[in-house]
Amino acid sequence: MKKKRGKENILRDYFMYFCQNFSVMYRTHNCGELRLEDAGKEVILSGWIQRVRNLGGMTFIDLRDRYGITQLVFNLDQNPALCEEARKLGREDVVRIEGVVRERSNKNKCLPTGDIEVEAKKIEILNRSELPPFTIEKDTDGGEEIRMKYRYLDLRREPMKKKMILRHRLAQEVRKYLDKAGFLEIETPALIKSTPEGARDFVVPSRLHKHQFYALPQSPQIFKQLLMIAGYDKYFQLVKCFRDEDLRADRQPEFTQIDCEMSFVEREDVLKVFEGLIVYLFDTILQIKYNGNFPQMTYREAMERYGTDKPDIRFGLEITNLTMEVKGKGFPVFDTAEYIGGICVPGSAGYSRKQLEQLTEFVRQPQIGVGGLVYVKFQEDGSVKSSVDKFFSVDELMKWGEHTGAGKGDLLLILSGKKNRTLFALSELRLEMGTRLGLREKGNYSPLWVLDFPLLEWNEEEKRYMATHHPFTSPLSEDLTLLEKHPEQVRANAYDLVINGVEIGGGSIRIHETTLQGRMLKLLGFTDEEAATQFGFLMEALRYGAPPHGGIALGFDRLAAMFGGSESIRDFIAFPKNNAGRDMMADAPNFISKRQLDELNLRFRE
Ligand code: AMO
Repeated sequence: MKKKRGKENILRDYFMYFCQNFSVMYRTHNCGELRLEDAGKEVILSGWIQRVRNLGGMTFIDLRDRYGITQLVFNLDQNPALCEEARKLGREDVVRIEGVVRERSNKNKCLPTGDIEVEAKKIEILNRSELPPFTIEKDTDGGEEIRMKYRYLDLRREPMKKKMILRHRLAQEVRKYLDKAGFLEIETPALIKSTPEGARDFVVPSRLHKHQFYALPQSPQIFKQLLMIAGYDKYFQLVKCFRDEDLRADRQPEFTQIDCEMSFVEREDVLKVFEGLIVYLFDTILQIKYNGNFPQMTYREAMERYGTDKPDIRFGLEITNLTMEVKGKGFPVFDTAEYIGGICVPGSAGYSRKQLEQLTEFVRQPQIGVGGLVYVKFQEDGSVKSSVDKFFSVDELMKWGEHTGAGKGDLLLILSGKKNRTLFALSELRLEMGTRLGLREKGNYSPLWVLDFPLLEWNEEEKRYMATHHPFTSPLSEDLTLLEKHPEQVRANAYDLVINGVEIGGGSIRIHETTLQGRMLKLLGFTDEEAATQFGFLMEALRYGAPPHGGIALGFDRLAAMFGGSESIRDFIAFPKNNAGRDMMADAPNFISKRQLDELNLRFRE
């Protein structure tokens, strides 16, 4: 009888048969694997020349590949011709060498292969390289633009390699976890119908259907809901999404989501699964054990305490509403303000005039946009010093101190103006102070669920409500009666995952009944015909037994950047676009030929 083999063994057998038997013509080992115990072995290595150094009668070459660096040594006395040949090699030439592994006399503790070197016997140039436009080493002299143009060279650098490997590991672990939890990975189309809501769509003209366009998906939202209706109750996909929006360090026009959807679930079920995923990734990727549950906070609380819906809760410096305390006392700036709020910064009463001026400049930047900053210093000797002591008595300033928890040695920073703008400015000032005081440690991860977002937002330009999340998000059942009368007060059954002040993911419980979906689309200003044209297929599907369902999407690039300790997602994408949305390497977008335009029935309007 044949013995049954386990899955792991089957994998190992196939691997040994197909993958381990690569041609030894080019290499017996890679450049990161030789160790002291290999001394004496005859080996073949292939890779790129990192550096050539000539020291007296010896020439040393650092040979690099994806796995590491191995030192090659050439002895002028023993093999002058070979040594001469080695001396002619330049950076990034691709070579194949044969040689013998030797113990190194001068060991390099910084390199995993630093105990050995390979005494070269033969060298073959596989390809010459032109002089690269920047140094391909850990630290490079290449600026962002040039590195993007020659991305394939940038990706050869060790720090970039580490980022690509981290991204790969994350993807593998995400798949492992979700597969174990019973999720099916199902692909959804990339050429879809344009349903503009949220960001702008990228559109693709159709050649076969004159004057018609596909859109690239901003997310697979509708498709994953259709999969729930189809009965695939746990779906996931690592999927490319496309949004034509203004770019920032954490935004790309094409990015990747870990997109998920589940049927027969309530909010807590979804949160549990994805909290579990993050805890699993903390453990397997970062070796960090996270104990307990992620804290939860409503949107309203987050706005009041932190001035933002994505608070960095690694540190305090929370906002106190001072409007009632300070208004109406004859200081015109406060008296005319809708909202006045303050942050108590412990131990910073010693801030100099220059430092306070810097903070004032900070809040006055156009992107933050408040007029100025009021400070109160609660000095160690018990006295109080403030930029507004002409308008307020010491007693009044002391009361503010009591209200904000500021005591001796603390600095109170106050901003005022329109409520939303001031809260935003306070949240930015809070982050700035957190950074200045070293409270935003990189290795410290503080996740948070933000719940109960407003269902709708008023769009002043279009004079209509827009869905805060998307039009398929369910209102909280207790707010349903407010839907038509006070739409602005309705809360959504929506949630965001925030880690260290970064919105890592967002999701919601969906509307699964046609009537409610119809009410929602009406509120968003769609006529019945418009709703039918744009979302008819979803509305129809909802009539054929749609189960209760909900889901979430995590920004995969943001997750990778967060795990890699960086704020820019660009470094974690092999071929990203620049801030203007351009592919600097291929130079896209670009013009297309007249023939292509004709085929698509397109003409430019001058
Ligand atoms: P949302 O629009 O909140 O939800 O997107 C989910 C997550 O994707 C990431 N993200 C981005 N990352 C990089 N560049 C961008 N331009 C960008 N835009 C978004 C963020 C964000 O939290 N369909 C819903 C999810 C759902 O309801 O299940 C959606 O796409 O980390």
